[in-house]
Amino acid sequence: MASTLRGGHLIRLLDQWRATRTAMGDGNGGTRSGNGGPGRRPEYATLAAAISGLLRDGRVPIGVRLPAERELAEGLGISRTTVTAAYRELRESGHLNSRRGAGSFTTLPAGQRVGSSGLWTPEDTGDMIDLGCAALDAPAQLTDAVAAAVAELPRYTTGAGYHPSGLPALRERIADAFTARGLPTSPDQVLVTNGVQQAVDLILRLLVAPGQTALVESPTYPNALTALRAHRARIVTTNLDPAAGWEEELLLAEVRSSRPTVAYLIPEFQNPTGHVMPERLRALLPAAAHRAGTDLIVDESFVDLAFDTPLPPPVASFDAHARVLTVGGVSKPYWGGVRVGWIRAATPLIARLSALRVTVDMAGPVLDQLVAAAMLDRASEVIAARRRELRARRDTLLAALRQQIPQWTYVPPRGGVSLWVELDAPVSTALAQAAHEHGVRLAPGSLFGPAGTLERFMRLPFTRPEPDLVEAVRRLAAAHADLTRARPAAWAPPSLVA
Ligand SMILES: Cc1ncc(COP(=O)(O)O)c(C=O)c1O
Repeated sequence: MASTLRGGHLIRLLDQWRATRTAMGDGNGGTRSGNGGPGRRPEYATLAAAISGLLRDGRVPIGVRLPAERELAEGLGISRTTVTAAYRELRESGHLNSRRGAGSFTTLPAGQRVGSSGLWTPEDTGDMIDLGCAALDAPAQLTDAVAAAVAELPRYTTGAGYHPSGLPALRERIADAFTARGLPTSPDQVLVTNGVQQAVDLILRLLVAPGQTALVESPTYPNALTALRAHRARIVTTNLDPAAGWEEELLLAEVRSSRPTVAYLIPEFQNPTGHVMPERLRALLPAAAHRAGTDLIVDESFVDLAFDTPLPPPVASFDAHARVLTVGGVSKPYWGGVRVGWIRAATPLIARLSALRVTVDMAGPVLDQLVAAAMLDRASEVIAARRRELRARRDTLLAALRQQIPQWTYVPPRGGVSLWVELDAPVSTALAQAAHEHGVRLAPGSLFGPAGTLERFMRLPFTRPEPDLVEAVRRLAAAHADLTRARPAAWAPPSLVA
């Protein structure tokens, strides 16, 4: 049965709306019908917007029954007509489903539901060049790795096939890879998951209760935001400067002041900005997190993809208090079709996460894990080829952009898979729409921040083959030109008023 959002709870969540209303002189005991004065948005519309805002940022869950109109009206001290009109507006905008006799249930408009555009997934359709997804196709060595895995399989078929913590042989390889990077790790500090996304989700399940605070970088990886919203975390952000990356003081101050339950960070070739966290901040973070009672989720998805820079030591190597949970996987350096990721953390935590994973999917597929192990055996060959390939693709993308859309700016990344472009106007969503019509799929900047802002930015992955990238930039330039023609107002530089 669906749960009901208690009136008192919704009223607390609407505190900011009430404060604005009072400041605007509307706090008059609730006798107005809510039509507002000339030029002002009617009160019912601002109430509806406040409730849909709470839904979008995850503070009001999807599928719960809202309080009855009378209860909410009394609690907010406004007329019932205003609440009735607000609920009607929410129904019309697709945020509320009402059933006679049963009540009004929260929902999201079709295009915004998790699982469609909520989780950002690739799109393989005809001539469309998908730059919405920052992932490579399979490496040439995959076929060999699969053959090796099949040859290995009979060693496992006499058992039940369930290994909730992961195949021992794979845990050992993953632990060895950490140790080789200067982070001594034993296999019982490793849990094998079905991809990095599941690793993050399991950690959130274990550590974050609804309403608890999670700190993320802004911009950050959209599907991590979706996972946090699904766990009803309260999201706070630390901004990354487009040119310089993390602002050390601001990040540490945010940890101190909001004392988040978890912080989710991507220190290597951050998705989407491509920045690498400096060693000094890596060294300061674990102790600061410990003092604030924060666990750090460090997503190392791109750690293998440095083109020429030696990377600073892993964040976990500065961790004296078991505050760092490192997640990684094979999707970015190897292939997303092999659903294998991992968590490295303190042994007791890994044991708790393994127990939790049983409630989700029992264990990962044996064959995928054997393929992952076989690919890790070929790491040096695969990774060297990936770096060469990605560096050439980055250069091709940069050259095409310089030639065709020189007004865009960016810091060329020294690894990873994507470029974070500052556009010449705040039109990322409109540009993504126009680009779609020209046959390029893009993730607009707004997807990368919890507030849906970042309209001045666009992520351009360089994971497609070079000819596709050249063609994509040609189409993008055409979309950009369309937009300039179609929306002169949006492109006008702000006039200086002195
Ligand atoms: C930062 C980051 N974390 C996690 C993932 C998801 O990884 P996986 O495919 O292993 O679930 C991605 C994929 O784009 C990513 O960019």
